[in-house]
Amino acid sequence: MNQEKTSSERNKLLIEYTDHITSEEYMELRRRVVWCEFPLEEAQAGIDNSYMILCARDEGKAIGVMRLLWDGGYIAFLSDVIVDPDYQGQGIGRTLVESAMQRIKNDMKPGYKVKLCLMSAQGKEPFYEKFGFVERPNERLGAGMDQWFT
Ligand SMILES: CC(C)(COP(=O)(O)OP(=O)(O)OC[C@H]1O[C@@H](n2cnc3c(N)ncnc32)[C@H](O)[C@@H]1OP(=O)(O)O)[C@@H](O)C(=O)NCCC(=O)NCCS
Repeated sequence: MNQEKTSSERNKLLIEYTDHITSEEYMELRRRVVWCEFPLEEAQAGIDNSYMILCARDEGKAIGVMRLLWDGGYIAFLSDVIVDPDYQGQGIGRTLVESAMQRIKNDMKPGYKVKLCLMSAQGKEPFYEKFGFVERPNERLGAGMDQWFT
């Protein structure tokens, strides 16, 4: 049998997950997927006030991130799920999303109900549906909505 590992298999073995990311690393990941930029100070505030940060790293380099926001009550928000394009399609996005879901399940108290919300990027709905998220609007619920302040 051929013992050679593909680059995807090699990467899978090397990926580590840490609970920290710098604002510079976070903004670089946003740039990698062509998302809007904002000041480092604002990025740092978002990082500092997240309930959970998970950063995927390849030999120390940040190649994926997820931020979970949670008020401790019934509303949680999954934000900034990003995998560097060079590393997509290797299960890293799955690990990021499933880790957020598991953290809520671990931390919610008996009897609690928690709604985990997100705003899907265009075309990424099928990715999130894999983890049980339901697309809106539907027969029962209106669309998600948002507004930017600049
Ligand atoms: C969306 C994103 C996070 C997925 O990360 P990834 O590491 O490539 O995803 P994974 O390899 O873990 O894929 C997990 C599963 O989702 C599927 N999947 C991944 N991207 C998908 C897509 N765009 N549409 C449908 N399914 C998708 C995979 O086929 C895989 O399915 P399987 O487990 O049944 O084989 C990544 O493409 C990304 O960072 N995109 C740019 C930023 C972005 O749009 N993020 C979402 C913000 S709301």
